[in-house]
Amino acid sequence: MKQDQVKDYYGQTLQGSSDLKTDACCTEAAPPLHIRKALGAVHDDVSARYYGCGIVIPSELDGLKVLDLGSGAGRDVFALAKLVGPNGSVTGVDMTAEQLEIARSHEQWHAEQFGYDKPNTRFLEGYLEKLEELDLEPESFDLIISNCVINLCTDKPAVFKAAHKLLKPGGELYFSDVYADRRVPQELINDPILYGECLSGALYWNDFQSMAKQAGFIDPRIAEHRPLAILHPQIQEMLNPIKFASVTARLIKLEGLDTSCEDYGQAVIYKGGAQGMERIFDLDVEHQIEAGRVFPVCRNTLKMLTDTRFAKFFDVIGKGETHFGPFPGCAAVDVFGPTASEKIPTSSASAPVGGCC
Ligand SMILES: C[S@@+](CC[C@H](N)C(=O)[O-])C[C@H]1O[C@@H](n2cnc3c(N)ncnc32)[C@H](O)[C@@H]1O
Repeated sequence: MKQDQVKDYYGQTLQGSSDLKTDACCTEAAPPLHIRKALGAVHDDVSARYYGCGIVIPSELDGLKVLDLGSGAGRDVFALAKLVGPNGSVTGVDMTAEQLEIARSHEQWHAEQFGYDKPNTRFLEGYLEKLEELDLEPESFDLIISNCVINLCTDKPAVFKAAHKLLKPGGELYFSDVYADRRVPQELINDPILYGECLSGALYWNDFQSMAKQAGFIDPRIAEHRPLAILHPQIQEMLNPIKFASVTARLIKLEGLDTSCEDYGQAVIYKGGAQGMERIFDLDVEHQIEAGRVFPVCRNTLKMLTDTRFAKFFDVIGKGETHFGPFPGCAAVDVFGPTASEKIPTSSASAPVGGCC
């Protein structure tokens, strides 16, 4: 069974990030200082077992209730436990007992480091395809994260649907994963190393878009993306000519979103001050909003900024009573092409060998 094979890979085969056959652990973007500090506060034994592919920590986390799907040894859970503060909480779910054991054995240590009376973390053993069987209340989470895990899931639509149910309105699924520029052939999916290393289970990008929308996330946004270079000759040969990209997506749960970007003549002014984005608010790769500037937005973007925890940072211009047609300048992002963001290195010389676990 695929899940037993993956469990074995993360429970027995890999003992740390350096054991990855494709040298795939490749988070490269430099996050804001407060996130770097939180990641730096995580115990070394936990960090050594990090198999993620992106930074899954958005801004403004104080007091939030967070869920991590496929939390592994807990690196992101503990960093978030510091950032949400003692009034917030972070729950990790994973199916691999060995990973959970490491995470659980470090809960008290992190609580003490952060100066909390008791841990604000908990770890549950279970399958992401069966989240409804776990002690997780519907519409109770402000933020759901996941780091290089959904590609390993056998029923990906079920995971997106369950995440949508578990989020509060205005909450978001903010997650990193690997995607392919076409549907990966079954013989490659059957290869345990290509699958375990987060390559051959990757969703075709267009299938991901449809799946997210079907789950209720009508307007998926891209927070970061970068192409993956497969430099390992044997693996490159096996996968050629499929292109892979690591993408951090932002799926915000909102009612009444348009299926395309529509112009209602509205704009926002960012007041500044969101944590780590004091002068430029970074919603996604297409929306970097400078403080103090009138910034025209489509109706969906307006909702993402004002029907969410970010509302207090924005003034709105325009009542939105008249529809002026499609919002100008809305185009699909090519996640397999060079990244637009200056934060992300593009050199294939510095890129890792394989996918991004
Ligand atoms: C690539 S690792 C990433 C772990 C962690 N997110 C990190 O960044 O270090 C994948 C993790 O997902 C877990 N996993 C994979 N498929 C799963 C599933 N269907 N249900 C629950 N956990 C799963 C594995 O046990 C493993 O710990």
